[in-house]
Amino acid sequence: MSELENFVFQSPTKIIFGKNTETQVGAEVSAYGKKVLFHYGGGSIKKTGLYNRIIESLKAAGVEYIELGGAQPNPRLSLVNEGIELCRREKVDLILAVGGGSAIDSAKAIALGVPYNGDVWDFFTGKAEAEKALPVGVVLTLPAAGSEASNSCVITNEDGWLKRGCSSQFNRPAFAIMNPELTYTLPPYQTACGAADIMAHVMERYFTNTTDVDFTDMLSEATLKTIIKHVPIALKEPENYESRAQIMWAGTIAHNDLLSTGRLGDWASHQIEHELSGIYDVAHGAGLAVVFPAWMKYVYHHDVQRFVRFAVKVWNAEQDFFDPKQTALKGIWHLENFFRSIDLPVRLGELGIPDDRIREMADKTKAGEDGKVGNFVKLTHNDVYKILQLAK
Ligand code: NZQ
Ligand code: ZN
Repeated sequence: MSELENFVFQSPTKIIFGKNTETQVGAEVSAYGKKVLFHYGGGSIKKTGLYNRIIESLKAAGVEYIELGGAQPNPRLSLVNEGIELCRREKVDLILAVGGGSAIDSAKAIALGVPYNGDVWDFFTGKAEAEKALPVGVVLTLPAAGSEASNSCVITNEDGWLKRGCSSQFNRPAFAIMNPELTYTLPPYQTACGAADIMAHVMERYFTNTTDVDFTDMLSEATLKTIIKHVPIALKEPENYESRAQIMWAGTIAHNDLLSTGRLGDWASHQIEHELSGIYDVAHGAGLAVVFPAWMKYVYHHDVQRFVRFAVKVWNAEQDFFDPKQTALKGIWHLENFFRSIDLPVRLGELGIPDDRIREMADKTKAGEDGKVGNFVKLTHNDVYKILQLAK
């Protein structure tokens, strides 16, 4: 038995949730300054009309804005550096990210870089720790990464195609405006990728060696069940407000650290996936749908009872009391089957990733200070190689 660990839970992001809430963006921004960098992705917000509504709201609040679009999925360091230069030149007070995890992470990295007297990549290699950052505001259009309230920021350095994260309290956005109606226009694939990412954020925390965590276990199971119930509905009825709203809020709770309180999470699947999307530029959620079940198949022996609980509580699997391993495997089967049912890939080949760079991806996977990947089971790079082999 291991007791609930001591913890500090600090989730300062102001969440403004519901219909039409994006009209409040100007007023929220004006609380942080007079001049904002309006940062967004590849243009979906122009097609949906959200871009115009943001500008109207900023103007109505008397906020001066400059804009920088072009944050790509798996956001790039070069655009971050461009944003940093722009903000310094224009003396911007805060950054407003409108979009999904990529626009938000790109904004967070710009916010870290503006006051830093050095290369912003230092924060991603561990060479430096953030001591301050510009405030970041968010209008979320895609429930997935949880970046709207998380302490993390993930950027890809084109030099070596290294995708790396940086965790800091300074990465928590000041506010996040979340209108589920803004997610009606999501392509089904993005809705499904979002589901996989949200579930992965919960499962990374669920598979822990800390045992006295019943409350957060139950919160985690409820979050997973919400996604399992509502994502298929949203895929069939993209304008079902109730389901879109449940998914959006679950996505934030999955990754604002409420579900990590008192426990040490795993995170090996995320580290492994970052190599897939870093090299092959696949959607993060799709990469996780491939990696997570493979990781589970490799590690479930470590704590069969935890996997039995996952199968029974999350998937309502019938418990085989004589053969717990069979029950554990049922949970993994259900997860993989769920991903398939929402048209996600579950094998590397379905992602278009050939076998020939598996060794390279395994060797590049970021390890902790002890040289191992993950916490639930401490993996060597050779274990990671074997997991990727299982994902073929
Ligand atoms: O770029 P635009 O044109 O806006 O289109 C985007 C993009 O093509 C589109 N999209 C977003 N909202 C839409 C929409 N299309 C139609 N209607 C809408 N309402 O969806 C595509 C994917 O967007 P992206 O922001 O890349 O997706 P996501 O939110 O899944 O973010 C993925 C990134 O977040 C990182 C991932 O690694 C990846 O780089 N993560 C960030 C985390 C964090 N900061 O805490 C944690 C996660 O584990 C994750 O690593
Ligand atoms: Zn993720």
